[in-house]
Amino acid sequence: MPSGCAPQPLPVHSAPMSETYFVTTALPYANGPLHIGHIMEYIQADIWVRFLRMQGKAVHFVGADDAHGAPIMLKAQAEQITPEALVARIGADRPRYLEGFLIGFDHWHSTHSPENTELSQDIYRRLQAAGLIDSRSIEQFYDPVQKMFLADRYIKGECPKCHAKDQYGDACEVCGSVYVPTDLINPYSALSGAPPVLQRSDHFFFQLSDPRCVAFLRAWLDAPGHVQPQVANKAREWLEGRGERALADWDISRDAPYFGIPIPDAPGKYFYVWLDAPVGYLAALKSYIDSGKARARGETRTFAQLLGASDTRQVHFIGKDIIYFHTLFWPAMLKFAGAPYRVPDNVHVHGFITVSGEKMSKSRGTGISPLRYLELGLNPQWLRYYIAAKLNANVEDLDFNPADFVARVNSDLIGKYVNIASRAAAFISRHCNGVIDYPGGTAALTEQARSVVESVGASYGSREFGRAMREIMGFADRINQEFDARQPWVLAKDPHQREALQDACARALYGFKTLTCLLAPVLPELAERVARELFGLDRSLTWTDALEPPRHIQPYRHLMTRVEPRQVDALLAPGASAPAGTTTAAPGPSPPTAVAAPEHISIDEFNRVDLRVARIVAAEQVAGADKLLRLTVDLGGETRTVFAGIKSAYDPAALVGRLTVVVANLAPRKMKFGVSEGMVLAAGGESGGPYLLAPDSGARAGMRVR
Ligand code: 2FM
Ligand code: ZN
Repeated sequence: MPSGCAPQPLPVHSAPMSETYFVTTALPYANGPLHIGHIMEYIQADIWVRFLRMQGKAVHFVGADDAHGAPIMLKAQAEQITPEALVARIGADRPRYLEGFLIGFDHWHSTHSPENTELSQDIYRRLQAAGLIDSRSIEQFYDPVQKMFLADRYIKGECPKCHAKDQYGDACEVCGSVYVPTDLINPYSALSGAPPVLQRSDHFFFQLSDPRCVAFLRAWLDAPGHVQPQVANKAREWLEGRGERALADWDISRDAPYFGIPIPDAPGKYFYVWLDAPVGYLAALKSYIDSGKARARGETRTFAQLLGASDTRQVHFIGKDIIYFHTLFWPAMLKFAGAPYRVPDNVHVHGFITVSGEKMSKSRGTGISPLRYLELGLNPQWLRYYIAAKLNANVEDLDFNPADFVARVNSDLIGKYVNIASRAAAFISRHCNGVIDYPGGTAALTEQARSVVESVGASYGSREFGRAMREIMGFADRINQEFDARQPWVLAKDPHQREALQDACARALYGFKTLTCLLAPVLPELAERVARELFGLDRSLTWTDALEPPRHIQPYRHLMTRVEPRQVDALLAPGASAPAGTTTAAPGPSPPTAVAAPEHISIDEFNRVDLRVARIVAAEQVAGADKLLRLTVDLGGETRTVFAGIKSAYDPAALVGRLTVVVANLAPRKMKFGVSEGMVLAAGGESGGPYLLAPDSGARAGMRVR
């Protein structure tokens, strides 16, 4: 019989339960698809968030598109669409990436939003009231044809040092010298080709060099834990710069035409994109709270209450290229804007991702296209594991090496981890009817696992994911070695050895459950399947499950395939980094010989449709609608509103509690009666209907339908 030794509570690794984490990743510009660098950052943050949640912490994880600025305005202009249409098109594409890589943002918003306008203007007014904004007249190049001031990158000309032609306004790519645009010989506008003229304009400056800002930032950088030590050192260099390198005040305004947020009381002036971009973190949080979505996570406070609470933790994940903005401007802006705004509690900085040692270059077609990865059918959890295995808490670049990727995934995930269940479960199912007994008790096993669980927890908490993966795989090695030493395949042949067989397999399966909990932040889909399909749980695993011995299993079902080198070859084939399937400018009219639309769709195209089992938790009539019912559906933790044209066939009360199938990744549709966040599937035609689809018994809300 089992020993019945109850596991002791696990230590909490970072903070008391009451803390609420508000976690963000850098907001991507809304003028192009996400690249592998974005995905790496999101995976890093997502793993940390999932780990915190498994420990019972409250976390709000939000993202948004960074929608403003001259490049987006000009790109829209080139496509002959409005910037709003451009950012809407790019935004509509984000779920494919985020869902594809199992990145569980609670909410995705945009800096081009009412919340961001309100908050950016509020912060600006507060900084103004604090005496930290001043106005100065500056002289800048102006394009008389485009009728706009030109940022340095839009001015070209001859290098004043080596006389190379067509160099940018800030530095020469040929001789490397650095200068200001007015030093260029024969400057011209990169937009119109016209020679720019110098023109004066009033600009607003945030006075970062004010002694109050400098004193605050010194203290903030010195206090341990806000940023990694190497990041603090870098920020201090800027803060303490002297002479030519002295800390400069920050020009936060741009003249019309500009796609941005108007500066209050300053007609024709807009906030520079980098002012409202980080405010977008707060706008995303506000929109998430105000939309009522946060209530699904038990958050009942208002935006201001949550942000202003002393036990809220505001945490930003960013890349090393934007340290300046996040460790100087952003904390200072928030500090002097005052409550309820809070200074970031942590800014976690990561390095870049390289591919086979090379920096990614879109123009040369190197790198990895995230969409192509998904379209080729590579498992997103392979990449999540690989990234986790190579990440640490320092600002180091991470290299994606194809051979290493194949070796690590196959050897660790398949050879070490999945292998334990596939071998041990078969014996328990076949010889023990699925019942797991512990003839030797569980106390010693629990004690062995406890030290690994504690240490992996500490590694996750401090974002030392590589160390966590090494500890996990070390534990898997020990389980496999012990299992092999007991030779269960020999024991299985002898009916007198049933107890010994049971003991060997029980130990392995307890270890497998522990491993699954430890890997769940990295392999969320797999962990969910193991919990439900193998261990028969009707909920997700928590951190404390790691030390709860399993008592029975259901028949083992194949969990994960090996990665084939040819799949990675296809991913990295020349030209493969062009993001497949990305929507770009509307194509011109088709030539007359255009091939007719194919009758078949590929499996990849089918896989893009995210079909989910959903439980109808509420169904209501819609006042004024002839055909529609308003359904509230649960997609396994996430609640959506869906309008379905099934009123003629269903009494709303009879629908509550039913399972059905929903298209979960349909772009939200604004209808007369509200926004529909998905589509319920129903059969029907001339001979009758609609008939709602229903899955077979055993299916659960949130399961994917394939
Ligand atoms: O560097 C970038 O891609 C910016 N769009 C990041 C903005 S992060 C935050 F400030 F919004
Ligand atoms: Zn030069």
